[in-house]
Amino acid sequence: RAIVAETSKPSKKQTESAGMMSIQDNLYEIFQQAITEAIIDITDPPIVITLANNVKFGDYQCNSAMPIANIYKQLGKKVAPRDIATKIIEKVPTNPMIEKLEIAGAGFINIFISRTYGMQNLNTIFEKGLQPPPINKKLRVLVDFSSPNIAKEMHVGHLRSTIIGDSISRLLEYFGHDVLRINHLGDWGTQFGMLIAHLQDQFPNYLTQSPPIADLQAFYKESKARFDSDAEFKKRAYACVVKLQAFEPDYYKAWQLICDVSRKEFQKIYDRMDIKITERGESFYQDRMDKIVKELEDNGFLELDEGRKIMWVEQNVGIPLTITKSDGGYTYDTSDMAAIKQRLVEEKCDWVIYVTDSGQATHFDIIFKCAKRAGIVDYQKHRLDHVGFGVVLGEDKKKFKTRSGDTVRLIELLDEGLKRALDKLKEKERDKVLTEDELKLAQESIAYGCIKYADLSHNRNQEYVFSFDKMLEDKGNTAVYLLYAYTRIRSIARNANYTPEKIVNIAKIFSVSLEHEKEWKLGKVLLRFPDVLLKITKDLCLHHLCEYLYEIATTFTEFYDSCYCIEKDSSGDIIKVNNGRILLAEATALIMHKCFDILGLKPVSRM
Ligand code: ARG
Repeated sequence: RAIVAETSKPSKKQTESAGMMSIQDNLYEIFQQAITEAIIDITDPPIVITLANNVKFGDYQCNSAMPIANIYKQLGKKVAPRDIATKIIEKVPTNPMIEKLEIAGAGFINIFISRTYGMQNLNTIFEKGLQPPPINKKLRVLVDFSSPNIAKEMHVGHLRSTIIGDSISRLLEYFGHDVLRINHLGDWGTQFGMLIAHLQDQFPNYLTQSPPIADLQAFYKESKARFDSDAEFKKRAYACVVKLQAFEPDYYKAWQLICDVSRKEFQKIYDRMDIKITERGESFYQDRMDKIVKELEDNGFLELDEGRKIMWVEQNVGIPLTITKSDGGYTYDTSDMAAIKQRLVEEKCDWVIYVTDSGQATHFDIIFKCAKRAGIVDYQKHRLDHVGFGVVLGEDKKKFKTRSGDTVRLIELLDEGLKRALDKLKEKERDKVLTEDELKLAQESIAYGCIKYADLSHNRNQEYVFSFDKMLEDKGNTAVYLLYAYTRIRSIARNANYTPEKIVNIAKIFSVSLEHEKEWKLGKVLLRFPDVLLKITKDLCLHHLCEYLYEIATTFTEFYDSCYCIEKDSSGDIIKVNNGRILLAEATALIMHKCFDILGLKPVSRM
C-alpha cells in the first residue's frame, strides 16, 4: 500500500510560515481540492500522494485514480483510471510549486516540482534560518524516558531509552512544543525496605555521617542475600517499607542517602552524553497513589481478587492491573495510574510519551485503557504513545553481556567508546593534524555520536546488535561517515575563504544553484526536510531521520563529484567561485547540522 501523505491537516499557517514548506502537505491539499471537485459522486475519495521512486516518474505521484476506479467498480460503474486521472488534472489549478503533471501507466499522475519554487524555498534558509514546519498549536508534551531503578544496574536497555527519549524531546522542542523531560526513576519499591534495614545495621550512625556505599550494587546484593535467608531481617525490611512510605524522618533520610548514591552515578552518564532530564521518580506519586486508589475504588472500578484489588480494562478481558497487593502495598501499576492522572489532569499535558523496552507494551496498553475507562484520558484532547524498542544484543547475537557474563556497566561502555574513537582518529593520523583540543572534541563527538547514532539508525522496534567495530566504520550509514561528510562540506566555503558573514551577504545577492541535474537532485532531497520531520512526529521512529541524513550525504557526494564549487588554476590559486553552489553546499550543511542536533550528535568543524 502506498504511503498516504503524512498529514493531519495542512495548516493555513503554512503560507505565513517563515521557513521551508512541506511539499507533501501542500500537494495533499492541492490534490484533495482537485479530486473533490473532479469526483463528485464519491464521498471522501482517497487522496494518495507518494514520493516517486524513479525520476522518470516525476518527483511525487498522485496515485488516487486506481483506488477511485475500484470504488466505482464496486458501485457497478466502469471507469478507466486514466480517465479519472485526466479529470483530476483538469481540476488542478496552476501552482508555483508544480512544474508539470503527466499521466502515466494505468493512471498514475506524475508530479514534477518547479525548480524556481525549490530555489525560493531553499533560499528561505538564509533569510530566516532553518525553521521547523509550522505547528497548529503549541503542545505540552511529557516524555518519560531513561527511568532506571535506584540501586539496580542502569543497563543498556535504559541507555536505549535515554538516547531515543532525548532525541524525541529534541525533535519536539525544535517544533516549538513545550516539552517536559521526565526521569521516572524506580525509587520507591519494596527493595528499599531491605536496603534501609541493611543500612541501619551496617552504618548505624548514618544520620550524622554519610555512609561510604560507593558500590550500591554490592550493597544491594548483600541486603538481598540477607532478605532471602534471614526471616527476622525480612520482617524488619517489610516494616521499614511501611515506615518509609509513611515518610518517617529517619527512614526518609536513609532512603535519600541511598538514592543520592545512585543519582550521582546516573548523572555522570547524563552529563557525558549531554542529556537533560528532570527527576520525578515513583516516590513523587505516593500521596497521589493513595488518592487514585480511593478514586478508583469509589467509582466501582476495583474488584477483589484473593486479597488484591484489581482493575480490568473490560470485565475479564486481557490482564487486569493490580492496584493494591494483598498486604495493601502499591505496585508499578498503581504508580503508573497515579502518574498518568498527574500528567494529564494536574500537569495538563496534551501528549505523553513513554519510552521503554517493547516488553512493557502490554503494561502501557492496559494502563492507557484503564485510564480511558476511568475517564482520565480523553482521546479528543490527548495523545498517548508507548515508544517501545527491541533488546540490545552482543556481537554473538545473545543478550548484551560482558565476557564474564555480567551486565555491562554503562560508564565502562562509554569509556570504551572514547578509547575506540581515539584509536580510530590515530589510525587516520588525525592526531598529527589537529590541535589537542580539536582532537578531544573530535574524540567525544565520535564516541558518543556513534553510540547514539547506532541506536537511532536502527528501526527501534527491532533488536539491535551493539558493535563498536560496526558503528566506527567510516563507510555506510554510520555516525563516523556522516560526521566526516559534514566537515568536508563545511570546508568547501572555508577553502573559498568565505566566512559565515560573507555567506550571509552572498545569499542576499545569489540563489542556491539548481540548474545542473545533480544540483537539482540534491536540492530535491533537501526540500524534503520538513516532510521527514513531520513523518517522525507521527510514528516516532528516528531511523527515518538517519536514513535521510545518509541520503543527503550520498547525494551531496554525487553533486560534488560532478559540479565544481571552486575552480583553481594549476598553481592552486582560486580563479573562480561558484556562489550558487557554495550556497547549495551551505544549505546542505545547515540541514545536516539540524538533523545532528535532533539526534543529539555534536558535529565538529575539524576532525
Ligand atoms: N523503571 C522502569 C524500568 O526500569 C521504567 C519506567 C518507565 N516509565 C513508567 N512510567 N513506567 O523498567
